[in-house]
Amino acid sequence: MPDPNPTVMEFLLTRRSRPSKTLTAPAPTRDELMPILTAAARSPDHGKLEPWRFIVLQPAALARLAEFAAIRAEALGVAPEQLAKTQSSLRGAPLAVAVIAAPKPSGKIPEIEQLYSAGAVCLALLNAAHAAGWGANWLSGWAAHDRGFVEEGLGLAPAERVAGIIHIGTETSTPPERPRPDLDAITEWVEA
Ligand SMILES: Cc1cc2nc3c(=O)[nH]c(=O)nc-3n(C[C@H](O)[C@H](O)[C@H](O)COP(=O)(O)O)c2cc1C
Repeated sequence: MPDPNPTVMEFLLTRRSRPSKTLTAPAPTRDELMPILTAAARSPDHGKLEPWRFIVLQPAALARLAEFAAIRAEALGVAPEQLAKTQSSLRGAPLAVAVIAAPKPSGKIPEIEQLYSAGAVCLALLNAAHAAGWGANWLSGWAAHDRGFVEEGLGLAPAERVAGIIHIGTETSTPPERPRPDLDAITEWVEA
């Protein structure tokens, strides 16, 4: 017999990201963030490789990255408005957690499964932050995919990638619902 948990089900059925620009201080303290990271690290991980890690970015680090983004934008020819968007998102954030996909050499577990696991960690982190009462938003952007930015700015190894940058803070407004998928259009029931 199923043993339902209606509170969790209701949370999952109504979960909604909070746009990062609507997040403000205070951000979770280290003690408040630890259970959120613990929940995120409790994600499916084929082969128990732990192919991910966290970088917790506090305001001074985010400001440093905003400055560094300007250097990378010039090197890459990123449009000024794109740079401004990235800088304002970094400078305005009370806290962000970069989830780093860190694939491990394995003859058994394909790298793509390790990347899927990193994506699962991102969603679990987002959900745990929301469940703890914070607003949170999963972002990426051009800088998250720029090797110069992630290796020099965040200290990533060549094989590592940014799976997501999860902004976490105090929400100032609840966004309206956004359209959700038509389940009939994306679901196939195979009976035999
Ligand atoms: C891998 C990934 C990267 C994303 N990057 C951005 C981004 O850079 N900027 C943005 O506005 N939204 C981005 N989004 C979408 C936001 O997370 C958006 O708020 C989300 O789709 C809202 O969905 P939810 O309410 O179901 O959580 C990204 C989503 C994913 C999965």
